[in-house]
Amino acid sequence: MTAQLIDGKLIAQQVRDGVAGEVAKRTAAGKPKPTLATVLVGDRPDSAAYVSSKGKACMELGMGSISEHLPADISQDELEKLIKKLNRSKKIHGILVQLPLPGHLNEERVLQLINIEKDVDGFSPINIGRLAQKGREPLFVPCTPYGCIYLLEQSGVKIEGSNAVVLGRSNIVGMPAALLLIGKNATVTVCHSRTRDLPGTVRQADILIAAIGKTEMVRGDWIKPGAAVIDVGINAVPDATKKSGQRLVGDVNFAEAKEVAGCITPVPGGVGPMTIAMLMKNTLRAAELQDQ
Ligand code: GUN
Repeated sequence: MTAQLIDGKLIAQQVRDGVAGEVAKRTAAGKPKPTLATVLVGDRPDSAAYVSSKGKACMELGMGSISEHLPADISQDELEKLIKKLNRSKKIHGILVQLPLPGHLNEERVLQLINIEKDVDGFSPINIGRLAQKGREPLFVPCTPYGCIYLLEQSGVKIEGSNAVVLGRSNIVGMPAALLLIGKNATVTVCHSRTRDLPGTVRQADILIAAIGKTEMVRGDWIKPGAAVIDVGINAVPDATKKSGQRLVGDVNFAEAKEVAGCITPVPGGVGPMTIAMLMKNTLRAAELQDQ
């Protein structure tokens, strides 16, 4: 192994400790606990697990959380009523609607309804619009891309002037990650399913963010020697040696890439823990914004 391992678990814990410290100071000063409302629609096991980890993290950091669990067949109108109620509540500082929503619901209308001061996921069109424009600052940055950039910065990777390649253009990771990198003066290429020479394009990258959801798609010989590799993929593959019968791997072939990259995140223990850590940071910020 030649690459430096980027320890997301450790860095996420440091972020969480920092947030917990600030929360304790607030409560000692008689300010309200930063409180997150999570909204889960339906019973997707992955979404239920994410939402439950988010609530648990709030508790561990001395923050408040409420969870709203709605049936999969809830109407648009009922869901919108709930968001409006959460917007009005003085006790709630952050609102997170777990995605994806069931197909009959209009995600865009739901996200644009969230008060931007409570938009801790950073998905409201105003926050994303500000992220996309020069000289504008979003109130919140989407948690996973924020975590990716944080890992790069903590690892001493120079973003300014670098060639960055983002694999994937999803609303949740790829696109906001690309916008963040542009904002930090990287030259950014966004690749997707119709990119022609994927290996050749990735080979130009000083920084690679892989968020394409394809098991170990990025091979070692796609990586520029010394590159920083951030693997957002979480893919389950069968593994008879595990009790669960499976293990998690990324979008990058770690065994190959670690011999070429300068630094690299493992899966698990890389980007994964950062998403919730950054959500906690955003929720604290939301409470601070609403103090005034
Ligand atoms: N689904 C997958 N990732 C996320 C996330 O970061 N936020 C929300 N709200 N839904 C998600």
